[in-house]
Formats: sequence, structure tokens, C-alpha cells
Amino acid sequence: MKKVLFVCLGNICRSPLAEGLAIKISAELGISDQVTFDSCGTGNYHIGELPDERTRKNAKQNGLELTSQARQFDKKDFREFDYILAMDSANLSNIKKIDMTNQFDKIMGLMRDYDLEFKGQDVPDPYFGGEQGFQEVYNIIERSVRQFLTAEFLNGK
Ligand code: 4NP
Repeated sequence: MKKVLFVCLGNICRSPLAEGLAIKISAELGISDQVTFDSCGTGNYHIGELPDERTRKNAKQNGLELTSQARQFDKKDFREFDYILAMDSANLSNIKKIDMTNQFDKIMGLMRDYDLEFKGQDVPDPYFGGEQGFQEVYNIIERSVRQFLTAEFLNGK
């Protein structure tokens, strides 16, 4: 069983959505027996909270219920997970700093390394923006997670 961790800043907007979409899409792809998912934030501001109300509302409009509780990244996550995917370069940089000897460099990357349309860009932070930002983030994460799962679990790996 492989383990995937999605990381953003607050663990209430982007990464819990990535976790929920990954659970749903992996079931659709028939690979739920191969991989599990979790999410966390680099910040400690929202520990224990449900995803942001706007994120939950948008997810629900897209047929997805989000029920995770926010937690902060912990350095023991490096040993626990096979893939650690950050939503943006600032959060990737912050977890790389915690890996002081760079021994886990190969398991870390950006969510949008798997976005064939805009490879390597940041998933924008919707927290301080309007409603349409949440649907834009949903679309970005949906296609990136789908491509990640297809590339890593369906194409002969
Ligand atoms: P997230 O969004 O990193 O996608 O969960 C944010 C949530 C909260 C804050 C910033 C971004 N905040 O500053 O509290």
C-alpha cells in the first residue's frame, strides 16, 4: 500500500480537497486497494477545523463531501509517506527546510508537476479571494490528481 500526503498552508482549502478528490478518483480508477491519502498544513492556524465553509460548499456543488480535520505537517510524515505533494512552491520550500539533510527530496514535489496544462505552477490560494476562485482551484486539483494517479498507479508502476 502506497501513502500520499497533500500539503498546503492551512489544511482547510486546497489539500483537504486534493485528499477528497484523490479518494474519489482512485475508487473510479479501481486502485483504492493500492493507495491511501491524507492531508496537512504547514501552518498551525486551523488545527482541528473542518475544511473552510466555502471549500465545502463548492465541493458539495461538485458532488464531494469533505469531512477531514486540519492537522499540521510533522517531520515524522517524511518516513510515513511515499509521496508528499505540496500545493505551491512556498509550502514545498517550507517542508524542504524541515528535511535538513535532504534525504527525503525524492518523495517531495508539487501537485501541479502533474498538471499537463500548466506544469509546475502553484495551486492558487483561494482563501482571500471570491467564490469563483474555489471552482478554479477545484478544476486545477481535479485534473492534477487524476493525472498523478494515472501516471503513478495505472501506467505500469
Ligand atoms: P489553504 O488556504 O492553505 O489552501 O488551506 C489557506 C487557509 C488559511 C489561511 C491561508 C490559506 N490563513 O491564512 O489562515
